[in-house]
Amino acid sequence: MNTIIRCAANHRSRMAAKQLIYPAAERNKDPILSVLQKYIEQGADKIFLEIASGSGQHIAHFAQHFPQILFYPSEYESRLLESIAAHTSGLTNVKRPLKIDITTDFHTWGNGIFKEASIDYMYNANMIHISPYQCCIGLFDNAGKLLKDNGLLFTYGPYAIDGKITPESNVNFHKSLKLQDSSWGLRDINDLKALAENNGIKLINIIDMPANNKIIIWKKMLSTR
Ligand SMILES: C[S@@+](CC[C@H](N)C(=O)[O-])C[C@H]1O[C@@H](n2cnc3c(N)ncnc32)[C@H](O)[C@@H]1O
Repeated sequence: MNTIIRCAANHRSRMAAKQLIYPAAERNKDPILSVLQKYIEQGADKIFLEIASGSGQHIAHFAQHFPQILFYPSEYESRLLESIAAHTSGLTNVKRPLKIDITTDFHTWGNGIFKEASIDYMYNANMIHISPYQCCIGLFDNAGKLLKDNGLLFTYGPYAIDGKITPESNVNFHKSLKLQDSSWGLRDINDLKALAENNGIKLINIIDMPANNKIIIWKKMLSTR
């Protein structure tokens, strides 16, 4: 089921704390986790970076299931950093959330906290269609530089395929996004593939998810850097 803005519209506070709860994130965190569990290898040296953590519900959930992996949440909207910190408080394998604008170069993030080719897994949910296209460009550009060879990027949300959006609920969702901001809207997987390939990243799988969403799994190819 699609609502107008699946992440932000219906949030509420829990027990007057700073944790925002997005109902959609509550519903989709387990189905997404089951996909991640098929692709992610546990390991003490593994790093997972989330772009656009939103409320922080996803990363808090995933981090509890991958205790050996070090998780970095991030957000563009400063007001959400508090919610992410509240959700992840007490989880020793989660760092403080970083303020990240994906359209900027990774060298500027967190005083240069990340080195080139240093990240094993990147994850981004529901940003690609609810932000300007410049964010897609920035996502693949930065992922191409930050991921280790064979590192994986997971993107979650609804997509168009070969210029076509299905089913009707996703067509309506796309229209409602465009009405709110003409730079938003469902992106075509072919356009994203082209962006990815320009950055040494290959689409390796597309998995159908509940509510007409998909997870796309992208892999950083071996480079000569
Ligand atoms: C619909 S919310 C998704 C939040 C969360 N990932 C989820 O699935 O619940 C869209 C997110 O895109 C983020 N976003 C928008 N512009 C961005 C940018 N330039 N850089 C990074 N994130 C951005 C917003 O801050 C917001 O958290």
